[in-house]
Amino acid sequence: MSTLPGVPSLVTKALRKSLAMGYLEATRAETGRLLATLAATRQGTIAECGTGCGVGAAWLRSGAPSATRVLTAELEGSLASEVSDMFAGDGIDVLHADWSALESAAPFSLLFLDASQALMSERDDVIALVEPGGMIVLDDFTPSISWPPRVHDRLDRVRADWLADPRLTSAEVMVAPDAAVIIAVVRPGGSAGA
Ligand SMILES: C[S@@+](CC[C@H](N)C(=O)[O-])C[C@H]1O[C@@H](n2cnc3c(N)ncnc32)[C@H](O)[C@@H]1O
Repeated sequence: MSTLPGVPSLVTKALRKSLAMGYLEATRAETGRLLATLAATRQGTIAECGTGCGVGAAWLRSGAPSATRVLTAELEGSLASEVSDMFAGDGIDVLHADWSALESAAPFSLLFLDASQALMSERDDVIALVEPGGMIVLDDFTPSISWPPRVHDRLDRVRADWLADPRLTSAEVMVAPDAAVIIAVVRPGGSAGA
């Protein structure tokens, strides 16, 4: 299989699957490169909420050390099954389950939230899944230059709460002119696993 220049072959495979399935919600390359970079610093287990066609998981696997486990949960059965087959032998475990089922494999050294806006409001449950010093990456924000953050001229409460939570050290990182992520590191004593 030919690869796209500068794109890991595993990511190319997942992008081809996304195209073949008409799936248009794949993690964009700017975010993927950041995920791979963060994953390169991680040991233990990395998890993703919301597999989709596997692009985010492929970026995480491409960056992570080989001994680091990569696990991803997808609610939709057909997607989970297709992606599980696609990644057979690639070192990515795909779980057909609601994101909350990831708890059985916690704590995580990195957790990538890419399932739904509603999940971002479950801050306590999400933080409880991550080890002290572990990272939570939240996708799909529109960059905001104000504090508190605003979208469409309204307070973005969810984003403000993540950035101000005293259990975390967090930053909004702009990955493209129209896209930002939040990176939150769990402080010592900040999660249940502490
Ligand atoms: C934005 S897409 C994920 C894209 C994917 N991370 C990628 O990089 O290509 C969101 C996915 O989350 C899944 N999802 C939604 N709610 C979920 C939940 N409660 N638990 C697990 N997956 C969920 C959806 O079915 C959808 O495939």
